[in-house]
Amino acid sequence: MYAQLVETGVKRLKSLDEMSAQERAFQQRIDDEIKIEAKNWMPDAYRQTLIRQISQHAHSEIVGMLPEGNWVTRAPTLKRKLQLMAKIQDEAGHGLYLYSAMETLGADRDSEIAKLHNGKAKYSSIFNYPTLSWADMGVVGWLVDGAAIVNQVVLQRTSYGPYSRAMIRICKEESFHQRQGYEMLLTMMRHGTQVQKDMVQDAINRLWWPALMMFGPSDEHSPNSAQSMAWKIKRQSNDELRQRFIDQTIPQLELLGCSVPDPALKWNAERGHYDFGEIQWDEFYEVLKGNGPCNQERVATRRQAIEDGAWVRAAAVAHARKKHNKIAA
Ligand code: 3HC
Repeated sequence: MYAQLVETGVKRLKSLDEMSAQERAFQQRIDDEIKIEAKNWMPDAYRQTLIRQISQHAHSEIVGMLPEGNWVTRAPTLKRKLQLMAKIQDEAGHGLYLYSAMETLGADRDSEIAKLHNGKAKYSSIFNYPTLSWADMGVVGWLVDGAAIVNQVVLQRTSYGPYSRAMIRICKEESFHQRQGYEMLLTMMRHGTQVQKDMVQDAINRLWWPALMMFGPSDEHSPNSAQSMAWKIKRQSNDELRQRFIDQTIPQLELLGCSVPDPALKWNAERGHYDFGEIQWDEFYEVLKGNGPCNQERVATRRQAIEDGAWVRAAAVAHARKKHNKIAA
């Protein structure tokens, strides 16, 4: 696998004979499908790539709570409120698993979170879009968590042990997230008023393309993919996973009796996949630059939450210190 990537002239990869003996042994371990653990030697670039990806993944989980938190007090029934709160709590837990996996690489949690607050670290672009109606809660569960599952199921086989194990646990909960969202939409489409049905279609129209952007830039414009694939951090490319998501989602869309805002979407029997229209990459990169509809609001909310919670952290540290001193005395 690694040799093929080098042969295809993928820039950025060292050829095996340019590597040190230690790097060659590391690459051999990767190629032999032996998980890399925190205690193993690893190239610094492997470590940094994982800290970058895992920290941003964790940030995405935490920021991803905000669009849904917006609707907890306006859930139409107690059951829907409980479902939504359970999902949001799961996302917080996913963030904590991922920050812990990141820390096994020697990264400091506070400084990585500070990068989120000062705009130096990314989180998934999808969370910079507003959730304007209750139907958005169903579409977020169905499309956003659905897209996250396609990406995260593959990440269960990532080469770094702690990340892979975090993913196995997270994927179990993501399935509930996706199903509860889809069930909500089925209920609205089958038993709802015309206004509610229109609400569902409006939410799909607004979130369909941003959900496709979650998989990242197209392969030829993905600076990290080649190396991440060589190190088996990434097992499949951005475009492969995007295509898989579309192929599995369109039949669900048809069952809902809805459409997507893509006139080019059609089944291509020859390819065995759906053809789809051009993604608006300008919009994607604008959102990544911080110019999405909700970027400022999301980061400001996270900053405020950290400030508001400072006293809780100080109290916990003081308590832990007092307990420690008591034991030590
Ligand atoms: N939003 C924000 N930034 C994105 C992005 C997106 N949708 N897609 C790509 N990027 C960024 C990358 O982080 C990278 O920037 P960086 O080098 O400064 O970090 C740049 O765009 C180029 O993209 P690449 O494809 O070269 O980068 P990667 O190889 O890292 O691939 C990725 C991007 C596919 C998102 C990969 O990082 C990944 O698989 N991450 C783990 C999964 C993840 O983070 N998912 C986010 C959603 S989590 C979620 O939805 C929670 C759920 O519970 C709802």
